[in-house]
Amino acid sequence: MCTEMKDPYGRTIDYLRISVTDRCNLRCSYCMPQGVNLTSHDQILRYEEILMICQEALSLGICNFKITGGEPLVRKGILSFIEELRKLKGVQTVTLTTNGVLLEPYIEALKQIGIDAINISLDTADPIEYRQITGFDLWSRVHASILKSVESGIPTKLNCVLLEGGQDRILPLSCYARDYPVDVRFIELMPLGLGRDLGGLSPDAARKQLLTAYPDLHPVDEKRGNGPAHYEASTFLKGRIGWVDALSHKFCQTCNRIRLTSTGILKPCLCYDASYDLLRELRSGDSVPQICEKIHSLVRQAILEKPMEHCFEKTGRITEHRNMSEIGG
Ligand code: GTP
Ligand code: 5AD
Ligand code: SF4
Repeated sequence: MCTEMKDPYGRTIDYLRISVTDRCNLRCSYCMPQGVNLTSHDQILRYEEILMICQEALSLGICNFKITGGEPLVRKGILSFIEELRKLKGVQTVTLTTNGVLLEPYIEALKQIGIDAINISLDTADPIEYRQITGFDLWSRVHASILKSVESGIPTKLNCVLLEGGQDRILPLSCYARDYPVDVRFIELMPLGLGRDLGGLSPDAARKQLLTAYPDLHPVDEKRGNGPAHYEASTFLKGRIGWVDALSHKFCQTCNRIRLTSTGILKPCLCYDASYDLLRELRSGDSVPQICEKIHSLVRQAILEKPMEHCFEKTGRITEHRNMSEIGG
């Protein structure tokens, strides 16, 4: 039976972000420049375990699912998993956030199995800077994935993290929204993982750059996904400019989500380490109905214990010390 679950602040929670792996094929400067200590495979949720969790989440009214990583496309069998998830009764959307390196050959199949949208991370439109930021000379692969994703008709958005000194990257990145029906979203750097010690570029500074080329840029009230971004339009642009500005424009009052890490930890909020260990329950040796009941009750509890808001502005109070690649953003 599908119910609508509200958290203690009256917010409907209908969105689960699922990190399927902590591994990644890039080494972004603000995420994992030296790589990370990889979790052993037996500590990672199996696909059938994730599907069990999704089934219980669905019964609590969670019907939108985001597949993230690390980089989700490095995990074997990802396509069949997404296909199974998409087929579960009651699912409204399944979307993917990827760095785009391995995406191009998957696009046709993703379209076939009904992926609802793809977000591709790209922090610069310059191939040399791309190598400096990510450690790899793979810009052209990502660019090709973006073009093919757009061409396939799958709603496509770009995620561009605003890094210190990156003001000259803004206009070149915005050209994707100028030339194609792609939303280009600028993400304020959050003080999580390595992001704690780095400076970001302010969304205000980025917007100033955009106004020089698109003086009629103006906010639009459009739902273009399930996440916290807000969007702007211009007659010069085919797509939208989006902002995920967790610090300068706190959006917690409209929060609709919880998160599942690849190790089976369910997180009520990005900012805090409060969590529920679903892997332990899944492998407890109890009967399947008992496990399902326990998972159901823990998902419910995570929703009921969601905090009101993050505390990114007071970094000393952040209790989440995991890397972004473990959480999935
Ligand atoms: P759609 O809106 O459905 O396209 O997806 P999304 O924006 O929720 O997902 P995506 O994986 O593309 O995330 C974009 C950025 O938003 C990442 O940097 C995430 O870390 C950030 N983000 C997503 N959800 C939250 C949230 O609840 N709180 C905060 N502070 N940041 C979030
Ligand atoms: N702050 C904001 N966004 C981040 N991402 C990774 N680390 C951070 C951070 N500290 C972004 C990635 C990707 C998305 C899932 O999260 O670049 O676009
Ligand atoms: Fe929700 Fe926490 Fe994100 Fe705020 S920081 S939007 S409360 S998950």
